[in-house]
Amino acid sequence: MYILMISMHGLIRGNNLELGKDADTGGQTTYVVELTKHLVRNKNVEKVDLLTRLIEDDDVCLDYSEAEEDLGHGARIIRLSCGPKRYLRKELLWPHLNQIVDKCLHYLKQQNRLPNLIHSHYADAGYVGQQLSLLLGIPQIHTGHSLGISKRQRLLASGRKIHTIEKQFNLQHRIAVEEDVIQHASLIITSTRQEIDEQYKQYTNFHQARFSVIPPGINTSKFSPPSRKKITSESQQHVDKYLDDPEKPLILNICRAELRKNISGLIAAYGSNSKLQEMANLLIIAGPRENIRALEDAQKKVMTDLLLDIDLYDLWGKVAVPKSIAQDCIPEIYRLVAKRKGVLINSAFTEPFGLTLIEAAASGLPIAAPDDGGPRDIVGNCRNGVLVNTLNQCEIASTLIYMLEDSSRWRQWAKNGLTGVKRYYSWDSHVKKYIKEIQGVLNRDKKKIRRQYVINANIENVSPNLTRVKAALISDIDNTLLGDKSALIQLENWIAERKGKLAFGVATGRTISSTIDILKRNQLPIPDLMITSVGTEIYYGSNQLRDEGWSTHIKHLWRRDAIAEALAQFPGMKLQPANTQREFKLSYFAKPDAFPSIAELYSYLHTLKLHCNLVYSHDELLDVLPVRASKGHAIRYLAYKWDLPLDKFIVAGDSGNDIEMLAGDTLAIVVGNHSPELEVLKNQARIYFAEKSYAAGILEGIANYHNELQPALN
Ligand code: GLC
Ligand code: MG
Repeated sequence: MYILMISMHGLIRGNNLELGKDADTGGQTTYVVELTKHLVRNKNVEKVDLLTRLIEDDDVCLDYSEAEEDLGHGARIIRLSCGPKRYLRKELLWPHLNQIVDKCLHYLKQQNRLPNLIHSHYADAGYVGQQLSLLLGIPQIHTGHSLGISKRQRLLASGRKIHTIEKQFNLQHRIAVEEDVIQHASLIITSTRQEIDEQYKQYTNFHQARFSVIPPGINTSKFSPPSRKKITSESQQHVDKYLDDPEKPLILNICRAELRKNISGLIAAYGSNSKLQEMANLLIIAGPRENIRALEDAQKKVMTDLLLDIDLYDLWGKVAVPKSIAQDCIPEIYRLVAKRKGVLINSAFTEPFGLTLIEAAASGLPIAAPDDGGPRDIVGNCRNGVLVNTLNQCEIASTLIYMLEDSSRWRQWAKNGLTGVKRYYSWDSHVKKYIKEIQGVLNRDKKKIRRQYVINANIENVSPNLTRVKAALISDIDNTLLGDKSALIQLENWIAERKGKLAFGVATGRTISSTIDILKRNQLPIPDLMITSVGTEIYYGSNQLRDEGWSTHIKHLWRRDAIAEALAQFPGMKLQPANTQREFKLSYFAKPDAFPSIAELYSYLHTLKLHCNLVYSHDELLDVLPVRASKGHAIRYLAYKWDLPLDKFIVAGDSGNDIEMLAGDTLAIVVGNHSPELEVLKNQARIYFAEKSYAAGILEGIANYHNELQPALN
């Protein structure tokens, strides 16, 4: 099996993750890297690629600008760039995701092997994964990690205003994407049951989804009890230098500096209870803080409050707050706390999962955590600690005392944690369940394809098999493909004989619905590719899957309304009927002598700082398109995306809107019945002017290109 893992945001590398460096580099990052490494060691898995964003930014390490990082045993991190080179927080990635889709397709096509399965993580990668899944016909599975609806509720509950939330987090878009992914994915993996019952359930498409609970695994050779692995004096020093009496048990809280983690509640609980202070020291690890003043506002507030609260309750000498601890030292910290018979407390208000609880358990450390999804499962499975109402400071304090005061109970919890982790939270058990689930997905998928095959008698419906073709024939419809019935039947046969090797497409000024109409009326099959509305839209196959990447690409500089307004002042230009007008296409009737020349129109729009592509056909049809759109640009985009050389595209046309696809490296055919505006192409290389008209002209052109096509289509 070859699995493509996708995780877009944060800082991802094979080793020594910079967890907590920013809000996007945390549990998910650890999980995807570890999962990748462990999966590839399973005998059923041959290859795993972890796709993420390539970042070139002076403020982050050079590692993240490497296009490829080998993780051994057939696993790699693949980095592809999108949008600006610099680091972007996850909320800002949305407009750039289509670029990753295109680059990834190109990449996969070049390496000549397609994955059997796509596994996406979080909504951003969910989008990328869904697009790839649709374009390639490969099943997608998805892990949400966190969900937009729950996040919005949390933020609203904390008193934030809906429009400021929207501005910062782009939640509306995120939730819409999540709905699509829920509907499309073959399987959704969650860490807990609660994630399904309380979070996914709030989505409209909930009932269309299939779920499996697979809690993340943990690396037990890294996280192990003090009896099995050493603690360096260096890590110990990081903690002990803060403490008057370092030999006392430690109460450990380890989390990101976030309000939700309720560090201040813990300090208040500890600070107000002298018995607890007598019994134990407090150790708080809340991410690195080189310079608190330079942190993001939210983090800055948490860190500042932390120090101020220590001072307020006068806890100097009792609380250790290490400035920064290397990721590699963290396992030793857990061990140190276990050695001193301490406990781990997660004082957060809510905890959907809580990886630290499992790390603690694996280190032989009893845990206390909020009565919420993750902790409920973990404490229920392992019986290695207690659930506590973290909203209540007195309860936090009394729970901690209860946990520390009885040493035989403490030992039982520690032991239970170690065995529970092995049974429920090891990577071995995770990977085993994972493989079983995905084998199920792949089998179901095969069946689904077989079923559709029977119903439609056309397997191409399921996946547009553009990854396998060696050449493409793209023809204009009106006056090129259509016009000579019997030649068209011959052409159809020629195409049908090359199915699998040759993609067939149309490129037309018509809209998608009018394209489907005219093809049906002429009893033509729905082509693999449809470039419609003069190259502003691209669709695939009979399910008419729209290429979203193309829409994003051509949006550039397009100000439709402003252009329409500017052109309204020319009485010689009449808008064509409403059903021909599209998001990226404005079309007019304009006789040559009734409006300024094309050159004058360009310079007029230029003075207004409006950018567009003007396409004039048949001496009366004027299309105004985004600068990046035309039939020709669309073909070049497809050539890149599907990694098919331009000189393997046979293109045929008859009029002005075909010029751009005919000129250049394509194998072009101008049919005999062409309009005068195509005369400009005469005597150019690779443009064949056929004697014959319509489909007969196309066939004549194909024969002319026999030598060029022979190697690809033999
Ligand atoms: C098609 C379209 C029309 C466009 C013309 C030339 O006829 O319907 O809107 O102007 O092609 O591209
Ligand atoms: Mg035409």
